[in-house]
Amino acid sequence: MKLCIIPGDGIGVEVIRAAQRVLRALPLEVEMVEAAAGWGTFQETGTALPEATLEAARSSDAILFGAVASPSHPVPGYRSPIVALRRALDLYANIRPVGAAAAPVRSVSREGGQNLVDLVVVRENTEGLYAGRERLEDNGNTAIAERVITRRGSERIARTAFELARERATRLGPRKSESGQRKVTIVHKANILRLTDGLFREVALEVARDYPEIAVEELLVDTAAMHLAQSPERFGVIVTTNLFGDILSDVACIHGGGLGLASSANIGDQYALFEPVHGAAPDIAGRGIANPLAALGCLVLLLEWKERKQPQRGDATSLSQMLREAIGATLREGPHTSDLGGDATTEEVTSAIIEKLRKAPEPETP
Ligand code: NAI
Ligand code: MG
Repeated sequence: MKLCIIPGDGIGVEVIRAAQRVLRALPLEVEMVEAAAGWGTFQETGTALPEATLEAARSSDAILFGAVASPSHPVPGYRSPIVALRRALDLYANIRPVGAAAAPVRSVSREGGQNLVDLVVVRENTEGLYAGRERLEDNGNTAIAERVITRRGSERIARTAFELARERATRLGPRKSESGQRKVTIVHKANILRLTDGLFREVALEVARDYPEIAVEELLVDTAAMHLAQSPERFGVIVTTNLFGDILSDVACIHGGGLGLASSANIGDQYALFEPVHGAAPDIAGRGIANPLAALGCLVLLLEWKERKQPQRGDATSLSQMLREAIGATLREGPHTSDLGGDATTEEVTSAIIEKLRKAPEPETP
């Protein structure tokens, strides 16, 4: 596998170095090609996403991205490289799992009981309000953003969500409990955004007809936010438009142990990019204390993506399962970084994972 590595800025660099150590410890042939992007790159070269980086990304099987620092004030010539990469590579599906992706996490219900959280937000990644169509009118006194929803964009994201639900149904088995986790929830605001979300809703419900075995519900985005904060265990796959998905996935990641554990995949028909949800974290950068588990969770998603394309025989333990289990064990037993209440360094957590991988039985390689 040829992997393009884009560390970026701040703790992006630190967690990607950790991920590279873990990759080298896995029984897997990976060629890593490093490429530059981000604020540091912009200051050195005048562009945040050099053409050479795009080339390196295009000529790799997959991309591992750390995080970049973006200024909140407009800087002439600066564009967020991650948004540009998603568009340039047509990475239309942003997959953000919470909970069972790295390890089972239990939410505490209002009654005090514990519920397994195992949900994934499938966010449309190329259109909606992030289509970049903003303009000023009325001498700068009116600002307008256009929200773009297409049949093609809605169809492909809905199909991604239902395919994922089908796969999850197999994994979850026929148990009656936690049955909400077998369903797809279509989230929109079609009562107000009648044309844009009306189209998204209509197309998603059309796609649902091809998956009669998967339960479907629809929720307005505000109601969905409330349920997600209050009872995350009632969700399985959530499919929604770009901005709603961005916000809802950050709400959801609270139930999975916070930003230090949130991983995501950006998937297109040709390319796939994996990145932690967190940013460059300037407040802790350079101190070696960032939680590497979000980045290591990205490796789990990367391995799963690869295994899906080249299915293994029988029930051999896959590399993704092996790494998922090592992460889960480290979450249970420690060491933990400070965001999880511990005092371990990035390096100590990474070494603990590598140690667990060494002790794990060798998985069968196809
Ligand atoms: P952030 O995710 O960088 O940090 C938010 C808070 O979470 C901070 O207190 C940070 O210390 C903590 N945190 C984040 N990741 C952690 C980890 N792995 N371990 C321990 N603690 C962790 O978000 P913030 O502060 O809003 O943005 C900082 C910079 O990052 C900005 O320039 C922003 O534009 C950029 N950013 C980049 C993203 C990307 O590259 N995809 C995503 C989000 C923000
Ligand atoms: Mg976000």
